[in-house]
Amino acid sequence: MSLRPLRPEDIAAARALWQATPGVGLSAADEPQALAAFLARNPGTSFVAESEGRLVGTILVGHDGRRGLIHHLAVAVDQRRTGIGRALVEAGLSALRRQHIDKCHLMVFADNAEGAAFWSAIGATRRTELNLFSLSTTSR
Ligand SMILES: CC(C)(COP(=O)(O)OP(=O)(O)OC[C@H]1O[C@@H](n2cnc3c(N)ncnc32)[C@H](O)[C@@H]1OP(=O)(O)O)[C@@H](O)C(=O)NCCC(=O)NCCS
Repeated sequence: MSLRPLRPEDIAAARALWQATPGVGLSAADEPQALAAFLARNPGTSFVAESEGRLVGTILVGHDGRRGLIHHLAVAVDQRRTGIGRALVEAGLSALRRQHIDKCHLMVFADNAEGAAFWSAIGATRRTELNLFSLSTTSR
């Protein structure tokens, strides 16, 4: 298994992995053009894991100049529990650290107990004092 930055050419394989992965929610922000724009705005902070030439894991990481945000951490079912998820997170955190971002957040669906167990196991703090709110910029 090896890690490398996620490139625009990986978008199709990454989307296929996400579509096959319960726990990953997809939206208009995951259309290929939108993902290419995300990568252009956040160069070098998102990663893929490859095994025998196959894309087996992803993490999308970006920041707004103040805090980082992790999206779409996913590992292929047959490759789980071998440390790939942890390695992808460490790669993303290192990339943020190099850009002087000292904290990042992530969202987990409330019914994703395995995802929550993973984040707790790797040292993430569950923010029980916060609720997440969202606003659309287009339907107002
Ligand atoms: C969550 C996910 C990315 C973990 O990837 P992974 O490569 O299997 O994780 P790792 O092997 O690095 O696991 C690191 C540690 O996390 C914990 N962990 C991982 N998966 C777990 C699970 N299903 N249940 C409980 N603990 C788990 C373990 O402590 C594990 O260490 P161990 O294997 O030595 O016990 C993977 O299960 C996945 O793709 N899930 C679906 C998508 C998802 O839920 N993404 C996260 C929400 S944003």
